[in-house]
Amino acid sequence: MNVLFVTSEISPYASTGGLADVGAALPTALLELGEDIWRVMPMYRKVLEGAYPVSDTGIRIQVPVGLRTLEAEVWKSDADGPATYFIRKDEFFDRSQLYSLPERDYDDNFERFVFFQKAVVGLIDHLDTPVDIVHANDWQTALIPYFLTFGMQGIGRENREHVVFTIHNMAYQGVFEDSEFPYSNLPYSCFSVEELEFYGKLNCMKGAINRADQITTVSERYAEEILRPEFGCGLEGVLADARDKLTGIVNGVDYEVWDPQQDPLIAAPFSASRLEGKQVCKQALLERMGLSHSPSDPISKRPLIGMVSRLVDQKGMDLLVESMDRMMEEPITVVILGSGQEEYQRVCRNWAEQWPDRFAVYIGYNNELAHQIEAAADLFLMPSQFEPCGLNQLYSLRYGTVPIVHAVGGLDDTIEHIDPVLKTGNGFKFHEYTQTALIHAFQDALRLHQDQPAWRETQKRIMQQDYSWHSSARAYQQLYQRVLKAT
Ligand code: ADP
Ligand code: GLC
Repeated sequence: MNVLFVTSEISPYASTGGLADVGAALPTALLELGEDIWRVMPMYRKVLEGAYPVSDTGIRIQVPVGLRTLEAEVWKSDADGPATYFIRKDEFFDRSQLYSLPERDYDDNFERFVFFQKAVVGLIDHLDTPVDIVHANDWQTALIPYFLTFGMQGIGRENREHVVFTIHNMAYQGVFEDSEFPYSNLPYSCFSVEELEFYGKLNCMKGAINRADQITTVSERYAEEILRPEFGCGLEGVLADARDKLTGIVNGVDYEVWDPQQDPLIAAPFSASRLEGKQVCKQALLERMGLSHSPSDPISKRPLIGMVSRLVDQKGMDLLVESMDRMMEEPITVVILGSGQEEYQRVCRNWAEQWPDRFAVYIGYNNELAHQIEAAADLFLMPSQFEPCGLNQLYSLRYGTVPIVHAVGGLDDTIEHIDPVLKTGNGFKFHEYTQTALIHAFQDALRLHQDQPAWRETQKRIMQQDYSWHSSARAYQQLYQRVLKAT
C-alpha cells in the first residue's frame, strides 16, 4: 500500500504540540510495519533555519490560488525514516510562528493552507507515484479530499486516492469568511450546506468530515465525546451523520525520544530498576529554575509538580487559576513550561512572583526543558477541560512521574485512578471539572507520596507500562486496508 501522510507539523522540524509528535512517530511505525509511506509538510522558517538538512529537489509546481499563480518549491529530507517533502513558499511560511502571533491568527491562513494542500496534490501528480491512501490531519489539510477530486484549478482531476482524515482537536476547525472561498478555485457548489458552508462561513473541518472515506480521532473516548455538543464544538450533528466512518485510535509514545534511560536532554539517566537518577534530575531542574535545590534543604524533598502545556482554556488553566492558592497551601514546589493566551502567561508570572522559592515558570516553547520537567517532577498536572488524546500523561508514565488528570478524552482512556491497597492504577483522576474534585485527587496524590515505599512501587509499575505506537499503527493499517477493500 502506498500512503501519503500530510500534516502541518512534524517533530523535530516544526512543532506547536502533539500533532508534530504524531507526525514524527506514526508514519515511522507504519514504515516499520511495511507500509510504503512518505510525508509532506510546509517549509516554515523553523525548517529553513533548523539543524536538520533538507535539500532542493528542483521540482517546481505552479499553484493557482484565486487569481494568482504561485510557484511552490519542493524540498526533501534524506534523514532515516519515511521520506519527507517540504512545500516551500517563503511568502507564506518564512514567518516567526506557524499559525498565529500571540494576539491573533495570521490574516492569510486560508490562502496559505490552500496553497499548501494544492501543492501536495500537484506533487502527487508530478511524482506520478500511485498513492492509495492520503492520510490528512486537522483543518490545515482538511480540503485535501476536495483538491484530489477537483484538482488545483477546480475543474476536475482523475482521483485514484482514498482519504483518511484524523481529527486531533475539534476546537480548531479552520473557519473563514465566505469571501475567502475564491482562493480555493473550487466550484461554488462546494460552498453549500452539504459541503463546506457552516452558518454562512467556510468550515474546512466540516468538508473533511463529509468527504473523507474514513475519519479517525485520537482516542476512543474522544470519538464518543465529539458526538455531543460539549465536545463537538458545533460540528456534533455533522459528525453524527458521519458516525459510521468515525473511529478512535489512541496515540502512542515514541520511546526512542521519550525514554529516561537514553534521553540526552536530562541530567542523569534512570529506569524502573535504577531510580536514583531521577533525584539528580530533580536537583538539576530546581537549580536551573532558580529554586531551592540544596539536598539538605527540605524544599528539595517536597513533591515537585510539573506542567508542560499550551497555556489555553483547553488545558484547564481556568481551573488552575481557581485552585492554585489552595494547592500552594500544601508543601509543594511547582514548575510550569508553556505559552499561549496572554492572560494565562501573566497569571503564571504572577504566581512565580508570589512564591519565588517554590514556583517557577518558563514562558515559551522549549523541548529540552519539557524533557527535564518530565524527568524531574514527582507529579504531572493535566486538568484539561477536554483532551483528544494528550501525550504528556503518557510521557510522564515512562519517567515515573505520576499524572493527575481530568477524566476526559484520551486522559480518561489511558489513566486509571490509583488504588493504593490493590496496588493498581497509574495516576490520579478527577471526574467533575471543579476545584473540589481537583484538590481531592491532588491530596490523594500527596498522601501516596508521603508513603515513600508505596510511591516507589507505583513509579516502578507505571514506568513499565507500554504505550508504544505498535498496536495503534496496526489499527491504522487495518483501517487503510478496509478503505481499499470497500472500493
Ligand atoms: P497538545 O497537542 O494539545 O498541545 P499533547 O499532550 O498532545 O497536547 O502534546 C503536547 C506536546 O507538545 C508534548 O510533546 C509537549 O511536551 C509539547 N509541548 C507543549 N508545550 C510545550 C512547550 N511550551 N515547550 C516544549 N514542548 C511543549
Ligand atoms: C491535539 C490534541 C491532543 C493530542 C494531539 C495529538 O493537539 O489537543 O490531545 O494528543 O493533538 O493527536
